[in-house]
Amino acid sequence: MTTNDSPTTGSTSTGRLAGKVAIITGGGSGIGRASALRFAAEGAAVGVLDRDGEAAAGTVKLVEAEGGRALAVTADVAKAAEVDAAVDAVAAHFGGLHVLYNNAGVDSRGSVAVAEEDDWDRSFNVNAKGTFLVSRAALRHMEKGSSIINQGSVAALVGVMNFAAYCAAKGAVVALTRSMAVDLAARGVRVNVICPGTVYTPLMEPMLAARGDGDMELGLQRTLVKYPIGRLGDVTDIANVALFLASDDAAFMTGSVVAADGGMTAQ
Ligand SMILES: NC(=O)c1ccc[n+]([C@@H]2O[C@H](COP(=O)([O-])OP(=O)(O)OC[C@H]3O[C@@H](n4cnc5c(N)ncnc54)[C@H](O)[C@@H]3O)[C@@H](O)[C@H]2O)c1
Repeated sequence: MTTNDSPTTGSTSTGRLAGKVAIITGGGSGIGRASALRFAAEGAAVGVLDRDGEAAAGTVKLVEAEGGRALAVTADVAKAAEVDAAVDAVAAHFGGLHVLYNNAGVDSRGSVAVAEEDDWDRSFNVNAKGTFLVSRAALRHMEKGSSIINQGSVAALVGVMNFAAYCAAKGAVVALTRSMAVDLAARGVRVNVICPGTVYTPLMEPMLAARGDGDMELGLQRTLVKYPIGRLGDVTDIANVALFLASDDAAFMTGSVVAADGGMTAQ
């Protein structure tokens, strides 16, 4: 197993985001990092927003090493003032904003019977409120033809055991996506949500360990049986879906809930 810390673009560029400016939240790791590389390879200038400034800078280095353009900005998506400053900085630096990928997220622990109140608050603050705050800041810059992609999860579509606050917060992201799509259609801004299945990233390590009673390999085996396609997702699998939704190829899609889950929720 690898943690996909240094994914490559994974595909040949066709300039699908040429001339566009994108912000990817949680761009310092995992799916966000892979998406920054993918979007930049397709011609976008990318604002890599993360609460971990070093991680964001690491992604920018990788993008630049492949000849792309990116800017690291540090912000906690749950804090409005930090978000507004970071989004404004990217729009000013690159001269506009056309794509927002609300990818930053955190997991949670436990069923409703045992979950901690703090964990619930953290999950909603980052996953749900963060999506609201960054979208609001981005909309001050976005024009007709812009695209917002929210990050849901299969946990928004089915009950994942012992992730109550995460399931609820990702469910809120799906509901918010539909609301945003309806509200923003007249402005020509599309809004869709991706619901990824399990992708092997640092975020998933505690979940895999818990599912395997402390044994990661056992946790992996117990997870794999839920995936008809016979493997977990790769960060590039999700980045490719985000790229499609960001691009004009998805011009007739708004309010869509796109499962990218190897058939997990089809059963
Ligand atoms: N990995 C999976 O299996 C999986 C499955 C479904 C959905 N998701 C969702 O995909 C998204 C990315 O997950 P990942 O697996 O790549 O995670 P990851 O932990 O590898 O990366 C998450 C990034 O978000 C940043 N971040 C966390 N909280 C933040 C905050 N408050 N403000 C700004 N940045 C913050 C982290 O610093 C990190 O760089 C999350 O929303 C997650 O819920 C992941």
